[in-house]
Amino acid sequence: MNRQDYFSDRANGMKRSVIRELLKLTAKPGIISFAGGLPAPATFPVDYVEAAVDGVIEEEHETALQYGPTEGDARLREDFAIIMRKDGIKTTADHILITTASQQGLDLVAKIFLNPGDTCITGSPTYLGGLQAFKSYQGVPVGVELDDRGMIPEKLEETIVRLEGENRKPRFIYIIPDFQNPAGVTIPESRRRQILDIARKGEYLIIEDTPYRQLRYSGQSQPTFQSMAPEMVLSLYTISKILLPGFRLGWACGPDWIVDKMVMAKQAVDLCTPPFTQAITHAMLVNGALEKGLETTIQLYSNRRKLMLSCLEKEFAEIEGVSWTKPEGGLFLWLTLPEGMSTEEIFEQAIEEKVAYVPGSAFYPNNDNFRSMRLNFSYASEEQICEGVKRLGKVVRKNI
Ligand SMILES: Cc1ncc(COP(=O)(O)O)c(C=O)c1O
Repeated sequence: MNRQDYFSDRANGMKRSVIRELLKLTAKPGIISFAGGLPAPATFPVDYVEAAVDGVIEEEHETALQYGPTEGDARLREDFAIIMRKDGIKTTADHILITTASQQGLDLVAKIFLNPGDTCITGSPTYLGGLQAFKSYQGVPVGVELDDRGMIPEKLEETIVRLEGENRKPRFIYIIPDFQNPAGVTIPESRRRQILDIARKGEYLIIEDTPYRQLRYSGQSQPTFQSMAPEMVLSLYTISKILLPGFRLGWACGPDWIVDKMVMAKQAVDLCTPPFTQAITHAMLVNGALEKGLETTIQLYSNRRKLMLSCLEKEFAEIEGVSWTKPEGGLFLWLTLPEGMSTEEIFEQAIEEKVAYVPGSAFYPNNDNFRSMRLNFSYASEEQICEGVKRLGKVVRKNI
């Protein structure tokens, strides 16, 4: 029998991403990488982790090392509810499901909402891992164009009308409203309201994925979709970018009928997110790890963002047709090259020059847009940011 005959259609549809293969090259020595989405290790609250681990082992190992409820540790659910309430969202712990970080949230969303062939709306571009989650359940993400203020409501409406006309009504609208990955853009409140009106009209659910929300360096915080329409929004959060990614811990919050279904779906995946890391995280939050850590994290990333923007200005301001976004937070910005250039084509040259980025095509549902690249500014040091942008400028100029 052919090997693929052993697999489900779903598994046969899964492909190794070309981009991930390309990104393996970025691990070569001497390469300055703006490719990953990694937090700076200097921001990890090592002392808090150490103290919390000791405390948990000493005082609660019988529960922390045991299986736990699928919904998650009740104390941690309350901690996360408090974080949300401080952000203007009227919610309580019982509307929260602890997830094995937000990537699992995306997988559960795909699992409970998508039948094979079902469409869902995403940004174009959007988060690569979201596309992977939706496609792995044979969903068909359909992209809606963004501008400097995020998803364009008129384009959203057009796309919905078209899909409904083709009898392919989307199952949900997936949005990353704050400092979007990959483009770095944020949707202002007025536009959020427009998007909500469109969604309400067609009775669409919104999946609000907001891992970077607390990492704001300038401008005004915009209200969450969750706070504006709790009855039709499922929000995904994570500690990955604000505390540490290694615990693989996040949460979903939304209407009970959705969260309940996610609990059922999660049971088949991992029974529960590790109680040990949940207990440690709770102890860290009680001790103030988030407030204290966030201040320095924001300062560090804000400086790096500012530096990358000024390096880009120096290197690219003179080159016609080059533009980049100026994110008010998060980890990424989006650099677009002149018409006709392809960031995939020049990727290998960039690697030869020892600088790496993620080619933009990875973030489009149909991988059909080649002019942009995603640059991460949280991981590389200040010196590396200056040197890396210079190397990038050299590669781009060579190809004009
Ligand atoms: C928009 C978005 N959603 C979800 C994730 C997944 O993060 P995690 O699983 O670490 O919470 C990421 C990671 O970069 C992201 O950018």
